[in-house]
Amino acid sequence: MQDEPDIRRRFRALIIYWSGTGNTEKVARTIHNTLERQNITSIIMKVEEAEDVELYDYDLVFLGAPSYMWLPPDAIQRFIKNKMKLHDSRGDIKLCAPKLPGKRAVVFCTYSGPHTGLREATPVCKYMGQFFEHLGFDVIEEWYTIGEYHGREDRSTEGCLGDIRGRPNKEDLNQVENDVRRLLSSINAGK
Ligand SMILES: Cc1cc2nc3c(=O)[nH]c(=O)nc-3n(C[C@H](O)[C@H](O)[C@H](O)COP(=O)(O)O)c2cc1C
Repeated sequence: MQDEPDIRRRFRALIIYWSGTGNTEKVARTIHNTLERQNITSIIMKVEEAEDVELYDYDLVFLGAPSYMWLPPDAIQRFIKNKMKLHDSRGDIKLCAPKLPGKRAVVFCTYSGPHTGLREATPVCKYMGQFFEHLGFDVIEEWYTIGEYHGREDRSTEGCLGDIRGRPNKEDLNQVENDVRRLLSSINAGK
């Protein structure tokens, strides 16, 4: 009898993130722990440690950042620019960005949205997503998680999203966990 297809046998996941005040790190760690609990080989690293990482060695790459003036912070932008230079010099950046089979990426962002809400976060994921698309990865999801604006109480209580102190909270992280599980089942089902 033929075995059920099971991504656990072959899958390697990588999580790269930058976090100034810990919100994005909480999401990154939740992703990592959930993958591990599902027996997926997963490596987590801060963006500063990921300079030499070979992204094509992984089947599923997560890249996470907070929104800083509605874009990824400098460390993430620098990482992307350096990687683009490297991959361009290797001839990996192809016109019309053909998708490489089995290479998937998920981009995630934490944000406080004090002025315009979610719209302050979408450019972050779009920016990071374009990086992966240029490399031939299929950007399968963008995840947004609300995070307290540490050090600016008014932005965490009177902003567009109301009282966001303590976020991401348990429910937010449960949502992330559910998203990881859902994602894995859909990949496993060949979607
Ligand atoms: C310098 C700075 C700029 C920020 N700019 C934005 C912004 O434009 N839009 C937004 O929604 N949140 C903004 N925030 C809030 C952070 O995106 C939010 O608190 C995020 O969850 C922080 O994640 P971290 O703890 O991983 O650094 C900013 C925070 C800082 C410190």
